[in-house]
Amino acid sequence: MEKFISIAIDGPSGSGKSTLAKLLASRLGYVYIDTGALYRTIGYFVRNEGVASDDERGIVECLPKIDITMKLVGGAGVVFLGGNPVGTEIRTSEISTYASNVSKIPEVRAFLLDLQRNIAKSNNVIMDGRDIGTVVLPDSQVKVFLTASNDSRAERRYAELVARGDDVTLEQVKADLCWRDKNDLERKIAPAVPAEDSVMLDNSALSCEETVEAVLEIIRKKTH
Ligand code: DC
Repeated sequence: MEKFISIAIDGPSGSGKSTLAKLLASRLGYVYIDTGALYRTIGYFVRNEGVASDDERGIVECLPKIDITMKLVGGAGVVFLGGNPVGTEIRTSEISTYASNVSKIPEVRAFLLDLQRNIAKSNNVIMDGRDIGTVVLPDSQVKVFLTASNDSRAERRYAELVARGDDVTLEQVKADLCWRDKNDLERKIAPAVPAEDSVMLDNSALSCEETVEAVLEIIRKKTH
């Protein structure tokens, strides 16, 4: 059986995982998988059902109604909900909060586990998330835990939201990020912590290109 390579990029919100993972995937010809989009889509669905983000029972009751799949389009996984591709509607601050809350629920994590693992069974993947190196793909050949200072992460996220036309303040973005860090880190299941064999990389002072180069070097060392 052909052995596929998987590269896990984990880390907190706003550390630049998705930018890094997309650039690496196109350089290496690997498939890019944004696992946060799956949690965001569950959050989006339950919000539209009128279920509160802290209503654990209500969220679990929604799961059998959710038709979520991921298809590979142009070298990346696109999430489909009820047969339709999801887009920027899952990128709002409200849905970030929903995503972080639904991701604390064991039933939700179990619901999404095989979907993520199946893609890695038949593709070389770069997967970004919080628990890829620890839970989803613990046998990944390369694991990177990407961090950046709170200020750098908040400034990047703020610039992203403003560019999209969202009406937010830097203070608000910082507060949301701190709340989400704590929520993702302190949860009982699959917390956002590095795997024992992760390479830690703080990219506060690095450009995108420098971050890509640093990770390519880690990949070279680990795969040769
Ligand atoms: O990567 P993101 O910010 O789009 O993720 C949204 C939320 O989903 C994040 O706050 C925590 C959760 N998540 C998770 O628990 N596990 C993953 N592998 C990816 C995301």
